[in-house]
Amino acid sequence: MRIRPFRLERYFAVREFGAQYSLASSDCESLVQAELLAMADGECLGLWEGLSLGYTETPGAPFLRCEIAGLYDGIDPEYVLVTVPVEGIFIAMNSILDRGDHVICTFPGYQALYEVAVAIGCEVERWTAQEERGWRFDPDWLHERVRPETRLIAVNFPHNPTGFLPGREDFEHMVATARSCGAYFFSDEMYRHLELEPERRLPPACDLYDRAVSLGGMSKSFGMPGVRIGWLATRDRELLARMAGLKDYTTICASAPSEVLATIALRCRERIIARNLALIQANLELLRGFFARRGVMFAWNEPSAGTVAFPRMLAHGDADGFCDDMYAKAGVMLLPASAFEYGDRHFRIGFGRRNMPEALATFEEHLPDTGV
Ligand SMILES: Cc1ncc(COP(=O)(O)O)c(C=O)c1O
Repeated sequence: MRIRPFRLERYFAVREFGAQYSLASSDCESLVQAELLAMADGECLGLWEGLSLGYTETPGAPFLRCEIAGLYDGIDPEYVLVTVPVEGIFIAMNSILDRGDHVICTFPGYQALYEVAVAIGCEVERWTAQEERGWRFDPDWLHERVRPETRLIAVNFPHNPTGFLPGREDFEHMVATARSCGAYFFSDEMYRHLELEPERRLPPACDLYDRAVSLGGMSKSFGMPGVRIGWLATRDRELLARMAGLKDYTTICASAPSEVLATIALRCRERIIARNLALIQANLELLRGFFARRGVMFAWNEPSAGTVAFPRMLAHGDADGFCDDMYAKAGVMLLPASAFEYGDRHFRIGFGRRNMPEALATFEEHLPDTGV
């Protein structure tokens, strides 16, 4: 397979570990291992102490799949396949799609969600968010664009990079559209649980539709990207078997220590999510003040969920130059829209990290005094 470079990952590879501050990241402040182990119950501590560093079961350790199934209403542990999060996208796309298939994917977005389909030779149609309507994805547009040969609709809510979260009615309309033409519905739910108003949390797609696949993981909402644990959940047994078969060619099984660490975190998920939401709420308050002060320079749609926003630049040239300058002069890393192939007027700003107030202050110090 020939696949184009992953623009966001290439941008991070060059800058992430050299930046003094990252305002580009989309994960929540990472947990420290000692902090996590201090939350472990007796059973998990036993698993940790007695851990064998051998191969684990290929679909994922039973105790972990059991915790994951608990996040859903209609998913039994055997409907869960543990993968690295981005691997889950790769595996699902390769299990569902063939050359020539019609695919619709939310755009701008996490590149793997459409690029794997492009590499397979699919006809990929971009479903563009409406910035002037708070980055809404219009379900009526989707309904009009599907055809009998549409094989897959791929969405990501809460959405990276805009922070958009559809209302339940819109989301159910999207799923109904997939059902109406028999398409698969791939739902990237990596930022689920980070809704600023928890009552707006969407039901997982795999609970709504038999041909839906939900992607979840520990990287974003749980602040554990380093464990590299994610999962695919679907009630489509035949698809699940195909995805499991492909995993034999990628990672075979997950890392044994990571499976235990993820299990510990899922067992005390309420505490971890509450910690992360509190951090996000506080940081978002600072961003509100920032964008109010800097309204001549930037326009933004406030996010409804997740850890990122996608402001538009009203001055200061192109986003690539602006982000490069900020990195060189202030040591602050932002992510220009070119990483999303979305022109040169926007950048992604992340607010899930503990040092975000300091990073934002440094960013602002390096903006012109005039506010323009
Ligand atoms: C929407 C979305 N899906 C999937 C992933 C993949 O997660 P990971 O990097 O942990 O594999 C990311 C990571 O940025 C993401 O933003």
